[in-house]
Amino acid sequence: TELYLNGAFVPPESAHIPVMDRGFLFGDGVYEVIPSYGGYFLGLEPHLDRLEASLTAMRLDNPLTRDEWRAVLQRLIGEPPAPDQSVYLQVTRGVAPERDHLCPEGVRPTVLAFAKPIKPRAAAIAEQGVACITRPDIRWLRGEIKSISLAAAVLMRREAADEDALETIMHRDGWVTEGAVSNVFVVAAEALMTPPKSQLLLSGITRELALILAREHGLDFVEQPVALDTLRAADEIWLSSSTREVLPVTQLDGAPVGDGHPGPLWQRMNAIYQDYKA
Ligand code: PDD
Repeated sequence: TELYLNGAFVPPESAHIPVMDRGFLFGDGVYEVIPSYGGYFLGLEPHLDRLEASLTAMRLDNPLTRDEWRAVLQRLIGEPPAPDQSVYLQVTRGVAPERDHLCPEGVRPTVLAFAKPIKPRAAAIAEQGVACITRPDIRWLRGEIKSISLAAAVLMRREAADEDALETIMHRDGWVTEGAVSNVFVVAAEALMTPPKSQLLLSGITRELALILAREHGLDFVEQPVALDTLRAADEIWLSSSTREVLPVTQLDGAPVGDGHPGPLWQRMNAIYQDYKA
């Protein structure tokens, strides 16, 4: 249960970050969450590619090489590896001498990573699905950056929980963007669709994997803008994320989605996904 902080593996109790860290003061940093099943990371390279892209967008240098990242992550999941875990990693701009939005040259990034068990998915999810609410997307316009500034996501999850829902699906100008912490798929008029990649949403690794698996198994899909009205009238809605895989949404704003049960296309995708994971 050691965590990684700036080159050392230390017990959580003795891991300390100075209050002048820019992650703490400004949310000035980026992160990744990478799942591992039975000691095998799912999508390790795509996650490290996206980390690279987030760092570049934030004008941060990658503090570790690919090999160093792989070694850190591998060590965090233990030897022998505990079965299902996710590794959280974050890089902040580091500890500056004073609080100033403009960061001086020469500040070293703070690098943190730790593993956490992935809770096994409750059987009820496959049987009943989950509930979601919808809200306007109040976030900034650089959703493709996996930024640690997550105020909107925190509020959205709170609002969802207040309505006994798991997730908030967001929309901007009448178009679905994504969930607070997940991507969205919709089945409507016999077509599987998901909003295309853009700066308005995070390019989910699970989203990409689901599309690759769909292609391999002959499931047609389109990456196209999804209207909020289409979402409301959908036969199926799915959420995807690294820690939650592909989930069926059976209630939206209190109304049933389709017939209110996980749909046949989700059953198919879930079987394919579980098979791939194993
Ligand atoms: N969140 N969109 C947002 C805004 C997210 O925060 C996430 C993941 C996703 C799904 O991406 P992926 O399939 O790569 O996990 C989409 C992580 C799990 C989190 O914040 O904990």
